[in-house]
Amino acid sequence: MHNKPTSRHIILVGFMGTGKSTIAKLLAERLAYPRLDLDQAIEQRTKRKIADIFATDGEEVFRFIETTTLAETLQNPQPLVIATGGGAVLAEQNRTLMLEHGIVIALTATEEQIISRVASDTARPLIQGDVRARVRQLLEQRKDAYRFAHLTIDTTQLQPREVTQQIVQFVETL
Ligand code: S3P
Repeated sequence: MHNKPTSRHIILVGFMGTGKSTIAKLLAERLAYPRLDLDQAIEQRTKRKIADIFATDGEEVFRFIETTTLAETLQNPQPLVIATGGGAVLAEQNRTLMLEHGIVIALTATEEQIISRVASDTARPLIQGDVRARVRQLLEQRKDAYRFAHLTIDTTQLQPREVTQQIVQFVETL
C-alpha cells in the first residue's frame, strides 16, 4: 500500500549552520505540519539556555537531555517537522530512533558557507573562540555522522525554497 507522507515525522539533521531551522519553517508551512525545534524544546523543558547547560553541566548532560527530548518528541502521534541540533546524530541510539520514527533528511554545506553563517553567533557553545578552527575540527570529526539519512541535500548553492521543494518531492515519492 502507498505510504502517505503524513504518516511519519520529517526530521532534519545536519551540521550547525546548514539551514535546518530555516528549512524546517518553510517545510512545515508547505506541508501544514506542526514544527518542533529540538533545541527549543530542550530549553523549554529545562527552562535553561543550551549554552548554560553546556557551561554548568557539560556536554554529556546536554546529550542525555537531548536524547530524552528526542525520544519523547518522536512519540508525538501527529507527524511533525523536527529540526535537530547538529550533534543529535552522534549517539547511535538517536540515529536508530530517528530512522524508526521518521524520514531523515540531512542538510550539508561547504565549510566556508557554514563559517559565514555561524561566525557571529555567540549562542553555540561548541564553536566559541576561534570559530573557523572549531568548525573545521568538528566537521572533520563528524564527516560521516550525517550519512545515515534517507536523503542528503547540499544547500550551498540553493535557495531555501529550492531545498524545501526537493524535500517535498522526495517525501511524495515514498
Ligand atoms: C550542537 C548544535 C546546536 C546545539 C548545541 C550542540 C552540536 O544546534 O544543539 O549547541 O553539537 O553541533 P544547531 O545545529 O541548531 O546549532
